[in-house]
Amino acid sequence: MIRTVYLNGTYLPENEAKVSIFDRGFLFADGVYEVTSVLGGKLIDFQGHALRLARSLSELGMRNPIETADLLEVHRELVRVNDIDEGLIYLQITRGAAADRDFAYPSEDTLPTIVLFTQNKPGLADSPVAKVGIKVISIADQRWGRRDIKTVQLLYPSMGKMMAKAAGCDDAWMVEDGAVTEGTSNNAYIVKDGKIITRHLSNDILHGITRAAVLRFAREAQMEVEERAFTVAEAQNADEAFFTSASAFVMPVVELDGQAIGAGIPGPVAIRLREIYLDESRKIAI
Ligand code: PDD
Repeated sequence: MIRTVYLNGTYLPENEAKVSIFDRGFLFADGVYEVTSVLGGKLIDFQGHALRLARSLSELGMRNPIETADLLEVHRELVRVNDIDEGLIYLQITRGAAADRDFAYPSEDTLPTIVLFTQNKPGLADSPVAKVGIKVISIADQRWGRRDIKTVQLLYPSMGKMMAKAAGCDDAWMVEDGAVTEGTSNNAYIVKDGKIITRHLSNDILHGITRAAVLRFAREAQMEVEERAFTVAEAQNADEAFFTSASAFVMPVVELDGQAIGAGIPGPVAIRLREIYLDESRKIAI
């Protein structure tokens, strides 16, 4: 099926949407993005994603080409015309196409490029993978120092996924100064003696929208949460582990660097948090 996508104010078939070879997203990875999930045809955590988008743009001195209310309408229209019940909406904004290749930013009157498209994923919430959990490897974190900005520089995370695949695993957790930062496209957690441990917020990790919601739901359910860095050895000796993201929600992690975590099956805290997250998010989806 040919999707309808959104490009710079226009809805058009995906094969007719074209951007310039001079676009700074293409030449310099000079752009930011968001991924918002859709459940039951409604948007999960839209406001959180819109707020983080505004922050990413502002940190890079990039103009926001769209009001939040209009952005919401574009999301909803794409869900409607592409008939998405469960899936994802990808949004990308770049600094636009300058007249030529130049490291310096183009003049203020250069229009940003804005692209949105849907990814239809029936069964996203009832994922069979979540029932068995996933295996991860640890790799060095070789990304830049502003991981709090959601930029489209995703080459190292892509390499990490390939390293994981080559090792017969599903994903990689990145390690810096002896501690886990985050997954290639998700925030990482362990559970020890009933306590949920996840790295504190800083420029070292993306401030996950799912992370914020899951920690809020966990605290509301009287679960203990500690926001601090943890090591690979600590994770291997944890009772359970999991990760969160807009595309995977809460995903149990059952193995790290070939060593089973806990019983080597999805743990009760991860299973419960996944249920709570899906239930509560559906209730407030817009
Ligand atoms: N990735 N950390 C990194 C490095 C990420 O790329 C992501 C999201 C997260 C989780 O953030 P959130 O809960 O807001 O999705 C953490 C998206 C899903 C992606 O690149 O597809």
